[in-house]
Amino acid sequence: MSRVVLISSSPTEGSKTEALLEFIARRLGQYGHRTEFLKLRHLPAEALLRAQTSNELISAARATVEGADAVVVGSPVYKASYTGLLKVFIDLLPMDVLRGMPVLPVLTGGSPAHVLALDFGLKPLLATLGASSIGRGRFVISKHILPATEATPPAIDESVERDVVDAIDQFDSELKAKERSCSHAEAGFTAIERNAS
Ligand SMILES: Cc1cc2nc3c(=O)[nH]c(=O)nc-3n(C[C@H](O)[C@H](O)[C@H](O)COP(=O)(O)O)c2cc1C
Repeated sequence: MSRVVLISSSPTEGSKTEALLEFIARRLGQYGHRTEFLKLRHLPAEALLRAQTSNELISAARATVEGADAVVVGSPVYKASYTGLLKVFIDLLPMDVLRGMPVLPVLTGGSPAHVLALDFGLKPLLATLGASSIGRGRFVISKHILPATEATPPAIDESVERDVVDAIDQFDSELKAKERSCSHAEAGFTAIERNAS
């Protein structure tokens, strides 16, 4: 079981990006992973803008990312790129914080016009944090995201649902492969220790 942190970068309450992340989290939960949300809009704005890493909530948010096995980073497209909220938070993270972690980037936008923001904006940003295993990711148009209601969980329009689910399944495969390699490494250490004693 992996601990996956989902970073939600929209400043908006009732965010479509967050609904997409909830859809992803539910599915990862069904695959046996533990999921945790980090909603950047709940962080103190002044501390974020002034890069106050000593702020209690900022330092807790950094620790949440550092303690993850994997992350999903979601942002709406604002002015052809990820949000400023995501950027100010990323600027506060240590170099290499994503090293060795599978990362799934997702963007939502009003139209497909800025689909390239995924490959030319969000992915290079995540690469600066040492992420070596960045999934292909997905760009989902907001009208295809159906937020949860009291009666129904968040859903994705059937025209794109399969594609989003494929991205989650591929991410799950990466998480499981990482878990297997960690448990092999642990078994190797135990065998070495046993032989040495
Ligand atoms: C300030 C602002 C700028 C936006 N700029 C773009 C844009 O450049 N390209 C685009 O496709 N959509 C743009 N949109 C639309 C949003 O990306 C889209 O509605 C998104 O799904 C909103 O996600 P949210 O509900 O999580 O905030 C913009 C929306 C806002 C509020």
